[in-house]
Amino acid sequence: MPISEQPKIQLVYKPGAQARGIVVVNRRTSASRSRAHRRRKYQTVAREAPPNFVADLQRLRDWPSMKGSLWRRASLVKLTHAPNARLLTGSISGRNLKILDVGCGTGCISLELSRMGHDVMGLDRNKRMIEIATRTKKISRSGSGKLQYEMADFDKWFGTTGAYDVVIFSRVLHDLPDPENALSKAHGLLKSRGRILCLEYAYNMMDKKTAAWLYQTRKPLELQHWYSSAHLPDDPGKGVDLIMHEAVTGRKQHINTFEEMIRPLKRSFHQETFSWHPYHFWDVLSDMRIPNPSLEARLATMVKELEEYLLGTGEIQPALFLYKGTKARHLPH
Ligand SMILES: C[S@@+](CC[C@H](N)C(=O)[O-])C[C@H]1O[C@@H](n2cnc3c(N)ncnc32)[C@H](O)[C@@H]1O
Repeated sequence: MPISEQPKIQLVYKPGAQARGIVVVNRRTSASRSRAHRRRKYQTVAREAPPNFVADLQRLRDWPSMKGSLWRRASLVKLTHAPNARLLTGSISGRNLKILDVGCGTGCISLELSRMGHDVMGLDRNKRMIEIATRTKKISRSGSGKLQYEMADFDKWFGTTGAYDVVIFSRVLHDLPDPENALSKAHGLLKSRGRILCLEYAYNMMDKKTAAWLYQTRKPLELQHWYSSAHLPDDPGKGVDLIMHEAVTGRKQHINTFEEMIRPLKRSFHQETFSWHPYHFWDVLSDMRIPNPSLEARLATMVKELEEYLLGTGEIQPALFLYKGTKARHLPH
């Protein structure tokens, strides 16, 4: 369901624009409360994972003790991490490629790629993530490709120039302090005609309609005590403003905007494909707490399908994009 790359909302930098319902991007200020919250959410995987946790998309099971993570229920991973992994694996053609997975997290995508016969290097700065990825590899792996993990900060990592056929940034570029520099580094690590795959979210695309849809989805869950994060106000106007604020302007540290990522992507890599995908539902699924697992699975599916539907009709703004590009011959100065 590709949707036009052109955002419907206008991104402006003028005071007063917000009052007219236009998202104001506050550049280089600070990471939004919600981004910091999101980062913390991802870190809950590292914090909550029991010693036997394996992040294997082929052998999903419930991990009930991982209460703050989507991994707590196999049904939720099937709607989130698994399709994201398929988006990436499905974008790679060729055999026995050398792939770098930057910010590999639990390694669930790297593992799938190695099962396809590719040689994969997964890099993550979080020690706990690398431990999980390494354990998962030991327990679950079956595939002909080499699979290696390394704990390292990509910005400080020294890889071999011209060594990779594909470099993947999956949900990590938004967090790198200098996306331009990171992408020029990836450019150098790629072989000639090598490819970049960037699956990334850009919450600064949020508009009022999208926030209103999220409010309508979250508030009834909260009223049932089926939602874990901070309560939204009963007043819908205030609730919508709060969701917008969390997503766009309430930043404490900078998180890269769509423009800050797409510009250097396009400069260093000739675009092959670009598509938008549902992602707002990830936040809802992460925070919902429905005691009845089959009801939770049904509702989670419905929220995802509704987001897909509303994106398809252009009613709401997307957040997740996939950019596939080929290494430009020369880096622009
Ligand atoms: C949201 S997770 C995404 C994990 C995986 N790529 C996925 O799509 O499921 C982001 C990961 O990037 C890692 N990360 C963030 N900044 C990094 C950096 N500078 N170098 C290496 N890893 C980084 C974090 O530790 C975290 O595990």
